[in-house]
Amino acid sequence: MIKPDAVENGYIGAILEKITAAGFKIVAMKYTQLSKRDAEEFYAIHKERPFFGELVEFMTRGPIVAAILEKDNAVDDFRALIGATNPAEAAEGTIRKLYANDIAENAVHGSDSDDNAAIESAFHFSGREVF
Ligand code: RTP
Ligand code: MG
Repeated sequence: MIKPDAVENGYIGAILEKITAAGFKIVAMKYTQLSKRDAEEFYAIHKERPFFGELVEFMTRGPIVAAILEKDNAVDDFRALIGATNPAEAAEGTIRKLYANDIAENAVHGSDSDDNAAIESAFHFSGREVF
C-alpha cells in the first residue's frame, strides 16, 4: 500500500516509478480508502500495541493505493526497497527515507512474508482484479 501520508504529499507517481524501476510487476492496483473496520482487520496483529489506535486513525484518514507486486524474492526485495519502519533509520535512497513523514506515517506498507502477502492480496482484491 501507498499510505495516506504519501498520497496527501503527492508521491503516488514517484513511488510507483521506484517500484517498477526496481523490477516489480504490478499485477493488481486500486485507489481506495480503508474503513475503520478494514484497518483494524488489516493490522490486527498489532492490536495490543500502544500505537494501534493511532495507526488505525492514520490509515483511514484518506485514500491509499493498494497493489499486488510480483518479482522473484519479492517480500525481501520490497522491504529492502522501502527501508526501515522509521525513516530516520532507513537507508539512503529507500522509499521511506525519501517520502515518509515519520515512524508512524511512513509512506508505504510491505507484506512481511509470502503467506501474509497472499492474505493481504485477498483482503484488497478479488480474483477478477488480478492480472
Ligand atoms: P508495515 O507493516 O506498514 O509495512 O510496516 P513495518 O512492517 O515496517 O512495521 P510494523 O512493525 O509492522 O508496524 C506497522 C505500522 O505501524 C505504524 N507504527 N507506528 N508510532 C509508532 O511507534 C509506530 N510504530 C509502528 C507504522 O505505520 C508501521 O509501518
Ligand atoms: Mg509490518
